[in-house]
Amino acid sequence: MNITQINYDVIDSTNAEAIRQAKLGAAEGLCIVARRQTAGRGRQGRSWVSEKDSGLFFSIILRPELDPFFLPLITLMAGVAVHDTLVEVGLKPDIKWVNDVHVGGKKISGILAEAVDTPTGMAVVLGIGINVRTGQFPSELADIATSIEAEGIGTTPQEMAAVLIKYLGYFYEILDSRDGPAAIREEWRKRSSYHSGKLVRTTVDREAIEGTTDGIETNGALRIIDSVGVLHVIQAGDVEQLRAK
Ligand code: BTN
Repeated sequence: MNITQINYDVIDSTNAEAIRQAKLGAAEGLCIVARRQTAGRGRQGRSWVSEKDSGLFFSIILRPELDPFFLPLITLMAGVAVHDTLVEVGLKPDIKWVNDVHVGGKKISGILAEAVDTPTGMAVVLGIGINVRTGQFPSELADIATSIEAEGIGTTPQEMAAVLIKYLGYFYEILDSRDGPAAIREEWRKRSSYHSGKLVRTTVDREAIEGTTDGIETNGALRIIDSVGVLHVIQAGDVEQLRAK
Protein backbone atom coordinates (compact mmCIF):
# COMPACT_ATOMS: atom_id res chain seq x y z
CA MET A 1 0.00 0.00 0.00
CA ASN A 2 1.33 3.43 -0.95
CA ILE A 3 0.95 5.81 1.97
CA THR A 4 0.34 9.53 1.50
CA GLN A 5 -0.20 11.63 4.62
CA ILE A 6 -2.03 14.96 4.81
CA ASN A 7 -1.73 16.87 8.11
CA TYR A 8 -4.24 19.42 9.33
CA ASP A 9 -4.01 21.78 12.27
CA VAL A 10 -7.76 21.58 12.70
CA ILE A 11 -10.51 19.72 10.89
CA ASP A 12 -14.11 18.75 11.69
CA SER A 13 -13.33 15.02 11.71
CA THR A 14 -10.50 13.13 10.01
CA ASN A 15 -13.06 10.43 9.08
CA ALA A 16 -15.34 13.05 7.49
CA GLU A 17 -12.40 14.46 5.52
CA ALA A 18 -11.23 10.99 4.42
CA ILE A 19 -14.78 10.22 3.25
CA ARG A 20 -14.85 13.48 1.25
CA GLN A 21 -11.46 12.60 -0.31
CA ALA A 22 -12.55 9.01 -1.08
CA LYS A 23 -15.65 10.35 -2.88
CA LEU A 24 -13.34 12.58 -4.94
CA GLY A 25 -11.46 9.43 -5.96
CA ALA A 26 -8.51 9.43 -3.53
CA ALA A 27 -6.43 6.27 -3.67
CA GLU A 28 -6.03 3.61 -1.01
CA GLY A 29 -3.41 4.64 1.54
CA LEU A 30 -4.34 8.31 1.87
CA CYS A 31 -4.01 9.19 5.57
CA ILE A 32 -5.58 12.23 7.19
CA VAL A 33 -4.07 13.37 10.48
CA ALA A 34 -5.24 16.39 12.51
CA ARG A 35 -3.93 18.07 15.66
CA ARG A 36 -7.49 18.88 16.69
CA GLN A 37 -11.01 17.87 15.61
CA THR A 38 -14.05 20.06 16.11
CA ALA A 39 -16.52 17.22 15.44
CA GLY A 40 -14.58 14.05 16.23
CA ARG A 41 -16.98 11.16 16.09
CA GLY A 42 -17.16 7.83 17.84
CA ARG A 43 -19.35 4.81 17.32
CA GLN A 44 -23.11 4.86 17.86
CA GLY A 45 -23.42 8.62 17.44
CA ARG A 46 -21.03 9.41 20.27
CA SER A 47 -18.46 12.18 20.02
CA TRP A 48 -14.71 11.79 20.44
CA VAL A 49 -12.94 14.37 22.60
CA SER A 50 -10.23 15.85 20.37
CA GLU A 51 -8.40 18.73 22.08
CA LYS A 52 -5.30 20.09 20.37
CA ASP A 53 -2.34 17.67 20.51
CA SER A 54 -4.07 15.50 23.14
CA GLY A 55 -4.18 12.49 20.88
CA LEU A 56 -3.58 10.95 17.52
CA PHE A 57 -6.59 11.68 15.29
CA PHE A 58 -6.04 9.55 12.24
CA SER A 59 -8.01 8.16 9.29
CA ILE A 60 -6.90 6.06 6.34
CA ILE A 61 -8.71 5.24 3.10
CA LEU A 62 -8.76 1.54 2.24
CA ARG A 63 -10.08 -0.05 -0.93
CA PRO A 64 -10.09 -3.71 0.12
CA GLU A 65 -10.53 -6.52 -2.35
CA LEU A 66 -11.89 -8.66 0.46
CA ASP A 67 -15.15 -10.64 0.19
CA PRO A 68 -17.69 -8.21 1.76
CA PHE A 69 -18.58 -10.90 4.32
CA PHE A 70 -15.16 -10.39 5.89
CA LEU A 71 -15.30 -6.56 6.01
CA PRO A 72 -15.89 -6.50 9.81
CA LEU A 73 -12.40 -8.00 10.15
CA ILE A 74 -10.96 -4.62 9.10
CA THR A 75 -11.88 -3.34 12.57
CA LEU A 76 -10.22 -6.35 14.21
CA MET A 77 -7.14 -5.86 12.01
CA ALA A 78 -6.98 -2.23 13.16
CA GLY A 79 -7.24 -3.34 16.79
CA VAL A 80 -4.26 -5.63 16.27
CA ALA A 81 -2.26 -2.80 14.66
CA VAL A 82 -3.11 -0.36 17.47
CA HIS A 83 -2.25 -3.03 20.04
CA ASP A 84 1.22 -3.56 18.57
CA THR A 85 1.74 0.21 18.22
CA LEU A 86 1.13 0.58 21.95
CA VAL A 87 3.38 -2.38 22.77
CA GLU A 88 6.15 -0.71 20.78
CA VAL A 89 6.02 2.35 23.06
CA GLY A 90 6.15 0.13 26.14
CA LEU A 91 2.50 -0.50 27.12
CA LYS A 92 0.61 -3.75 27.79
CA PRO A 93 -2.72 -3.29 25.98
CA ASP A 94 -5.76 -5.54 25.67
CA ILE A 95 -8.34 -5.47 22.86
CA LYS A 96 -11.95 -5.32 24.00
CA TRP A 97 -14.28 -6.67 21.33
CA VAL A 98 -14.87 -5.16 18.92
CA ASN A 99 -12.95 -1.96 18.57
CA ASP A 100 -11.61 -0.66 21.88
CA VAL A 101 -8.04 -0.92 23.05
CA HIS A 102 -7.57 -0.77 26.81
CA VAL A 103 -4.63 -0.38 29.16
CA GLY A 104 -5.17 -1.30 32.81
CA GLY A 105 -8.91 -1.66 32.19
CA LYS A 106 -9.27 1.88 30.80
CA LYS A 107 -9.86 2.86 27.18
CA ILE A 108 -6.84 4.32 25.40
CA SER A 109 -7.95 3.98 21.77
CA GLY A 110 -11.10 3.69 19.69
CA ILE A 111 -11.63 2.62 16.10
CA LEU A 112 -14.43 3.71 13.76
CA ALA A 113 -14.63 2.04 10.34
CA GLU A 114 -17.09 3.55 7.86
CA ALA A 115 -17.91 2.13 4.41
CA VAL A 116 -18.48 4.65 1.65
CA ASP A 117 -19.61 4.42 -1.99
CA THR A 118 -17.23 6.21 -4.33
CA PRO A 119 -17.01 6.56 -8.13
CA THR A 120 -14.30 3.87 -8.19
CA GLY A 121 -16.17 1.46 -5.91
CA MET A 122 -16.66 0.87 -2.22
CA ALA A 123 -14.03 2.27 0.14
CA VAL A 124 -13.57 1.84 3.86
CA VAL A 125 -12.45 4.79 5.95
CA LEU A 126 -10.71 3.51 9.03
CA GLY A 127 -10.58 6.11 11.79
CA ILE A 128 -8.37 5.64 14.83
CA GLY A 129 -8.08 7.80 17.92
CA ILE A 130 -5.29 7.18 20.42
CA ASN A 131 -5.19 9.19 23.65
CA VAL A 132 -1.69 10.61 24.05
CA ARG A 133 -2.35 13.08 26.90
CA THR A 134 -5.22 13.00 29.37
CA GLY A 135 -4.74 16.55 30.69
CA GLN A 136 -7.94 17.99 29.31
CA PHE A 137 -10.19 14.94 29.72
CA PRO A 138 -13.66 15.83 31.02
CA SER A 139 -14.20 14.43 34.53
CA GLU A 140 -16.75 11.84 33.31
CA LEU A 141 -14.01 10.26 31.18
CA ALA A 142 -11.28 10.31 33.82
CA ASP A 143 -12.37 7.01 35.42
CA ILE A 144 -12.85 5.09 32.20
CA ALA A 145 -10.16 6.47 29.90
CA THR A 146 -6.39 6.68 30.00
CA SER A 147 -3.61 7.99 27.81
CA ILE A 148 -0.05 7.10 26.92
CA GLU A 149 1.18 9.96 29.11
CA ALA A 150 -1.00 8.89 32.05
CA GLU A 151 0.62 5.45 31.76
CA GLY A 152 4.01 7.09 32.26
CA ILE A 153 5.29 7.19 28.69
CA GLY A 154 6.30 10.29 26.77
CA THR A 155 5.55 10.40 23.03
CA THR A 156 3.82 12.63 20.51
CA PRO A 157 0.87 12.09 18.18
CA GLN A 158 3.29 12.41 15.22
CA GLU A 159 5.50 9.59 16.53
CA MET A 160 2.44 7.44 17.13
CA ALA A 161 1.22 8.06 13.58
CA ALA A 162 4.46 6.74 12.13
CA VAL A 163 4.38 3.55 14.22
CA LEU A 164 0.67 2.99 13.59
CA ILE A 165 1.09 3.36 9.81
CA LYS A 166 3.85 0.73 9.90
CA TYR A 167 1.62 -1.84 11.67
CA LEU A 168 -1.50 -1.00 9.65
CA GLY A 169 0.43 -1.55 6.42
CA TYR A 170 1.75 -4.86 7.72
CA PHE A 171 -1.53 -6.33 9.01
CA TYR A 172 -3.67 -4.95 6.16
CA GLU A 173 -1.45 -6.76 3.67
CA ILE A 174 -1.98 -9.96 5.66
CA LEU A 175 -5.78 -9.44 5.73
CA ASP A 176 -5.91 -8.85 1.97
CA SER A 177 -3.90 -12.02 1.22
CA ARG A 178 -5.06 -15.62 0.70
CA ASP A 179 -6.11 -17.03 4.12
CA GLY A 180 -5.86 -13.45 5.42
CA PRO A 181 -9.13 -13.55 7.40
CA ALA A 182 -8.02 -16.65 9.34
CA ALA A 183 -4.60 -15.12 9.98
CA ILE A 184 -6.10 -11.89 11.34
CA ARG A 185 -8.55 -13.79 13.57
CA GLU A 186 -5.59 -15.67 15.02
CA GLU A 187 -3.58 -12.47 15.57
CA TRP A 188 -6.62 -10.95 17.28
CA ARG A 189 -7.12 -14.03 19.49
CA LYS A 190 -3.53 -13.78 20.72
CA ARG A 191 -4.00 -10.16 21.79
CA SER A 192 -7.52 -10.06 23.28
CA SER A 193 -8.55 -11.36 26.68
CA TYR A 194 -12.13 -11.01 25.42
CA HIS A 195 -11.72 -13.83 22.89
CA SER A 196 -12.81 -16.63 25.19
CA GLY A 197 -13.71 -17.35 28.77
CA LYS A 198 -14.63 -13.76 29.67
CA LEU A 199 -17.89 -13.06 31.51
CA VAL A 200 -19.57 -10.21 29.60
CA ARG A 201 -22.85 -8.39 29.10
CA THR A 202 -24.17 -6.86 25.91
CA THR A 203 -27.47 -5.61 24.55
CA VAL A 204 -29.11 -6.77 21.32
CA ASP A 205 -32.42 -5.19 20.28
CA ARG A 206 -32.79 -3.82 23.83
CA GLU A 207 -32.43 -7.33 25.27
CA ALA A 208 -29.57 -7.82 27.74
CA ILE A 209 -27.38 -10.84 27.10
CA GLU A 210 -24.96 -12.12 29.71
CA GLY A 211 -22.61 -14.99 29.25
CA THR A 212 -19.11 -16.21 28.62
CA THR A 213 -17.22 -15.43 25.43
CA ASP A 214 -16.56 -18.43 23.21
CA GLY A 215 -14.34 -17.21 20.39
CA ILE A 216 -15.26 -15.32 17.24
CA GLU A 217 -17.05 -16.33 14.04
CA THR A 218 -15.24 -16.33 10.69
CA ASN A 219 -16.28 -12.69 10.09
CA GLY A 220 -15.22 -11.54 13.57
CA ALA A 221 -18.66 -11.65 15.26
CA LEU A 222 -18.42 -12.48 18.96
CA ARG A 223 -19.82 -15.77 20.32
CA ILE A 224 -21.34 -15.64 23.79
CA ILE A 225 -22.75 -18.67 25.61
CA ASP A 226 -25.32 -17.77 28.27
CA SER A 227 -25.94 -19.51 31.60
CA VAL A 228 -28.35 -22.04 30.06
CA GLY A 229 -25.96 -22.92 27.24
CA VAL A 230 -27.56 -20.90 24.43
CA LEU A 231 -25.15 -19.47 21.88
CA HIS A 232 -25.57 -15.79 20.92
CA VAL A 233 -23.64 -14.42 17.95
CA ILE A 234 -23.06 -10.68 18.34
CA GLN A 235 -22.40 -8.88 15.06
CA ALA A 236 -22.06 -5.34 16.42
CA GLY A 237 -22.32 -3.31 19.60
CA ASP A 238 -20.48 -2.89 22.87
CA VAL A 239 -19.66 -5.55 25.42
CA GLU A 240 -18.80 -4.87 29.01
CA GLN A 241 -16.91 -7.17 31.32
CA LEU A 242 -18.84 -8.59 34.27
CA ARG A 243 -17.13 -9.44 37.51
CA ALA A 244 -17.77 -13.03 38.62
CA LYS A 245 -20.31 -13.11 41.47
C1 BTN B 1 -15.10 4.82 19.35
O1 BTN B 1 -14.45 4.19 20.18
O2 BTN B 1 -16.28 5.16 19.54
C2 BTN B 1 -14.44 5.16 18.04
C3 BTN B 1 -13.67 6.45 18.14
C4 BTN B 1 -12.94 6.83 16.87
C5 BTN B 1 -12.29 8.19 16.97
C6 BTN B 1 -11.42 8.50 15.79
S1 BTN B 1 -10.44 9.96 16.03
C7 BTN B 1 -9.97 9.93 14.36
C8 BTN B 1 -11.19 9.54 13.56
N1 BTN B 1 -11.98 10.70 13.22
C9 BTN B 1 -13.17 10.70 13.84
O3 BTN B 1 -14.03 11.60 13.76
N2 BTN B 1 -13.29 9.58 14.57
C10 BTN B 1 -12.13 8.72 14.45
